Amino acid sequence: MDTGEFHRLWSELLPIGKAEGGGYLRFSWTEADLDCRTWFHDQSKRRGLRFEEDRNGNLYAWWDPEKEPVQDPEAPHPHGAVLTGSHFDSVPHGGAYDGPLGIVSAFLAVDQLRTEGAMPKRPIGIAAFTEEEGGRFGVPCLGSRLLTGVLEPDRARALTDPDGITLAEAMDAAGADPDSLGPEPERLQRLAAFVELHIEQGRALDGSESPVAVASAIWPHGRWRVTFTGEADHAGTTRLPDRRDPMLTFAFAVLAARKEARLAGGVATVGRVEVEPNATNAIAAKVTAWLDARAPDEAVLGEILSGFESKVTERAGRDGTRVAIHPESETPIVEFDASLRDRIAALLGGAPVLPTAAGHDAGVLSAHVPTAMLFVRNPTGVSHAPGEAASDEDCAAGVDALAAVLRDLAC
Ligand code: GLV
Ligand code: MN
Ligand code: MN
Ligand code: MN
Repeated sequence: MDTGEFHRLWSELLPIGKAEGGGYLRFSWTEADLDCRTWFHDQSKRRGLRFEEDRNGNLYAWWDPEKEPVQDPEAPHPHGAVLTGSHFDSVPHGGAYDGPLGIVSAFLAVDQLRTEGAMPKRPIGIAAFTEEEGGRFGVPCLGSRLLTGVLEPDRARALTDPDGITLAEAMDAAGADPDSLGPEPERLQRLAAFVELHIEQGRALDGSESPVAVASAIWPHGRWRVTFTGEADHAGTTRLPDRRDPMLTFAFAVLAARKEARLAGGVATVGRVEVEPNATNAIAAKVTAWLDARAPDEAVLGEILSGFESKVTERAGRDGTRVAIHPESETPIVEFDASLRDRIAALLGGAPVLPTAAGHDAGVLSAHVPTAMLFVRNPTGVSHAPGEAASDEDCAAGVDALAAVLRDLAC
């Protein structure tokens, strides 16, 4: 595909939700999200695609076959649709590509197939899933978890953002209906495959012959809210031995997370923290921190968590504080459909096959639908930060690869 053509469509979306400093603030059901949704609707109208919104705010643009689809009795899903797409939302001050690249590439791949006169035998759909990052309400892959029934609608409606606004209130304010949330098994049954194109979140493709890779697996991962409770008191007059300072236990916990992850062979991060009352001259009463841990397999992830819990609990005993660990989301290991993975890797001329430690809607859908992912080279390797990057040439190559996959699976 022509890089100029990629650049034109990409540039339409770029200003939406862009913050000072170059990062993005695209949180679900905010102004920026609604602007992205309008953009999606306009794109589907411009192309005469059938627009649809599901019960969970996930958007679809469908290219339906002109003729009755030919039934292939050998195929597991004779009439099933091939869906591609990703998400618009970002982490706080995230990069431009994580999510939106998969949606823009999907529209351009459909354009490419139409230009060459391809005729789909099955519906081809473009999807935009709601709140993949959990950047506002804390649970990642919110839209796909609700769609697949992994997340209870009542729990989802009660999730709160950092300002205490519930998902139900946010949807209401945005003109969406929170009562409609819930699983849609029939929608999933109508899918033969889901393919998500995504920016690479690492540097495995840097210096490689191929600007595009195929995913093999997603590491198991999760998020835990950890609360450290102590006692507020005067920062000057309270003798050191008399303090019950949760900040000390918290500081120890940050180091313990890293140490346990290093020893076990995974990764762990504390990237978000809230302190009460958050005063310079008072000992904190409570610290709430969010632990993100990931590992190549479930056993290693379990080791990190149990090591973390026992070390931090022991330390809390010494600090005179209390610690409580609440799971917020847990995602088991994902092995992508092997035959789809091999078929796509071969179709793309032996593209590299890579695992990832990042979560995706594709991982959630893979429990229900044969699913694959394509990664487009990221020369900085940075993601979830403004430094995330891709060249227009590589993005155009990503569109070509996605078009080839859609042609192969649906035309
Ligand atoms: C989502 O992108 C995640 O991996 O946290
Ligand atoms: Mn992400
Ligand atoms: Mn993403
Ligand atoms: Mn992700």
